[in-house]
Amino acid sequence: MPKLSIAVFASGGGTNLQSLINSSNKGVFDGDIAAVISNNSGAFALERAKKAGIAAYHISGKKYPGRNQFVGEILKTLENNKANLIVLAGYMKLLPLEVVRIFRNRILNIHPALLPKYGGKGMYGMNVHKAVIESGDKISGATVHFVDEIFDHGVILIQRTVPVLPGDDPETLAARVLKVEHKILPEAVSMFA
Ligand code: GRF
Repeated sequence: MPKLSIAVFASGGGTNLQSLINSSNKGVFDGDIAAVISNNSGAFALERAKKAGIAAYHISGKKYPGRNQFVGEILKTLENNKANLIVLAGYMKLLPLEVVRIFRNRILNIHPALLPKYGGKGMYGMNVHKAVIESGDKISGATVHFVDEIFDHGVILIQRTVPVLPGDDPETLAARVLKVEHKILPEAVSMFA
């Protein structure tokens, strides 16, 4: 069974990426992070990759105007790094259909809520936690699922709950959920391996 060669897509701070880097170094799963790709040249996730000696790529629709060029650049980068698993860790874009098809059943996403609730277009970051608090739900949590052509829709691999506490605001809930994300994402990669 070939070792996992993981390509991580991230748009932001990359704490989920960091958790994968740490877990890989500790041997939590038999695999390496071969590349980090971000649509945001300022994403701290790219800094984290560089610090860890991992190839870091800024690939965006602006930088590679024209759909074919953009998709081609992603596929070329995945191929050059022999990626056999894609992990979306705070990636704010929908992966191009071509990539989803080529990597079907080999793309994982981490979402900061208990899907299928609080998922879909516009449901990311603080929006999710705001909606959970406004709903009056007493539990929230995080989900790792396989990615298909629809936002936050594919088969669920792992879910873990956290309590929503009285007096929580989106920030305090986000912090509690993020801690769980950092645990279940490496666990999901290990299950996949
Ligand atoms: C996490 O809450 C993740 O669930 C969501 O975006 C955030 C990414 O955080 N998709 P980080 O960039 O991994 O710190």
